[in-house]
Amino acid sequence: MTEIIQIEFSDFDASDFETRGGRFAVVVGKDGSLGAQAAALDDLVGGAIANAVGGKAFKKAKPGDILEISYPQGVAAEFIAVAKVSKKKSALKAGAKLAAHALKDDLLILGEGHALIPQLVYGLKLRSYNFDRHRSQSDQDAHNVSVMIEDPKSVEIAFAPLLSIAQGVHFTRDLTNEPANVLTTVEFAKRLSDLKNSGLDVEILEEKDMEALGMGALLGVGYGSETPSKMVIMNWKGGGDEAPLALVGKGVVFDTGGISLKPAAGMEAMTMDMGGAGVVAGVMMALARRGAKANVVGIVGLVENMPDGRAQRPGDVVTSMKGDTIEVINTDAEGRLVLADALWYCQERFKPSGIIDLATLTGAAIIALGHENAAVFSNTSKFSDKLLKSCKKEREGAWRLPLGGGYDAQIKSRIADMKNVGGRPAGSITAAQFLARFVKDDMPWIHLDIAGVASLDKDTELAPKGATGWGVRAINRMISDYYEPS
Ligand code: BES
Ligand code: MN
Ligand code: ZN
Repeated sequence: MTEIIQIEFSDFDASDFETRGGRFAVVVGKDGSLGAQAAALDDLVGGAIANAVGGKAFKKAKPGDILEISYPQGVAAEFIAVAKVSKKKSALKAGAKLAAHALKDDLLILGEGHALIPQLVYGLKLRSYNFDRHRSQSDQDAHNVSVMIEDPKSVEIAFAPLLSIAQGVHFTRDLTNEPANVLTTVEFAKRLSDLKNSGLDVEILEEKDMEALGMGALLGVGYGSETPSKMVIMNWKGGGDEAPLALVGKGVVFDTGGISLKPAAGMEAMTMDMGGAGVVAGVMMALARRGAKANVVGIVGLVENMPDGRAQRPGDVVTSMKGDTIEVINTDAEGRLVLADALWYCQERFKPSGIIDLATLTGAAIIALGHENAAVFSNTSKFSDKLLKSCKKEREGAWRLPLGGGYDAQIKSRIADMKNVGGRPAGSITAAQFLARFVKDDMPWIHLDIAGVASLDKDTELAPKGATGWGVRAINRMISDYYEPS
């Protein structure tokens, strides 16, 4: 299961400290002073906690670090984790580290006197994720996390929006981790339809609808697939009459490259090629569940890029909804074809105040920035600075790269309005230039190439290896900081 931990907040009750099993976590400030509950536990274990916080290791420890007391005398519990916490960031960090304990056993957190407990539990929740739905036998037991704190009701209320965001992140990870035989376009659309239960309006465009709209760029990508192309529109109207912010996502459920077939080695990773759409879905879930006071529309183009007798060929010319024609030099540069029509539809229908698109668009983004930063492109610094600040606050790596007419010249076609590839130099930028042709003048726009950050083959602070959910927190933060009344 992907939701491993069950969290509850309660009043203090030290009566069963001696006999309860599982693990304890004691939250301690930089000064190392223990609250009354921690002191009660400390009495039972013969002063081991006081010894730990009085020692060198605690002094050396950075905020966010954990000291570990194994098999303490005097209590049934096998473990006491002492979390050193000072500011918001360290609380999140400490919580993420405590996840390792919550994954192993039930955990009781003594949070007395610590205002950052919601942040700490948020870190714990984000990190407590395990994608095991395709194992016949789960490798992970479910565990309870109890948090003892003064005024548990109000702490629970403070935690509620963070829980909504964590659920959005986990939703994104679930979608992105899911193999393509399970997460077909049909299944993807169904899971997005289920977001109606969270309060979103969800609408689905089928192939015939998209044909009527003239979406030849998007539709061409799906010609070789047995699973039908779809566009899903998720609408959250939590604000007033203002124009919505739009999020647009690339949802290629599997990218073989099409007739321009990718090499076999590593092709299985292309199950995450719907990661942009996954982030859009996760943000929309978070907004709905926390009742965001903003208008946001999320649009995802869902297609599968397969080779087939009916598949699009290199050299084909397709006509986009905008009316511009595109020479498809390489069928593996399919994401931009999907986004071209999704972007245009978004602007025609919703007249948004700004657009952020997300896509696992180019391998070149990985060459440029590795797995540390997503590539950010924008036509408006005023808009992109807000996102970059939000990324910084949430510590989701993002780095801006340039756009420019010289790069645009690389996608000139001999026979059509443009071609879909611009050669090897600056591959991420020429992809962004392609998208820019489908963004209207004066429309604030950000393109996020998340090819390097959507899924990793190593554990990180807040996620196990696999899908990260990169961007859900930053975009949610941008919306709460700049689009909602404070
Ligand atoms: N989905 C890929 C990009 C990608 C690569 C995402 C690695 C995640 C990890 C995209 O559709 C693609 O194939 N791009 C090509 C573009 C090229 C043909 C111009 C690429 O990057 O090689
Ligand atoms: Mn491709
Ligand atoms: Zn792709």
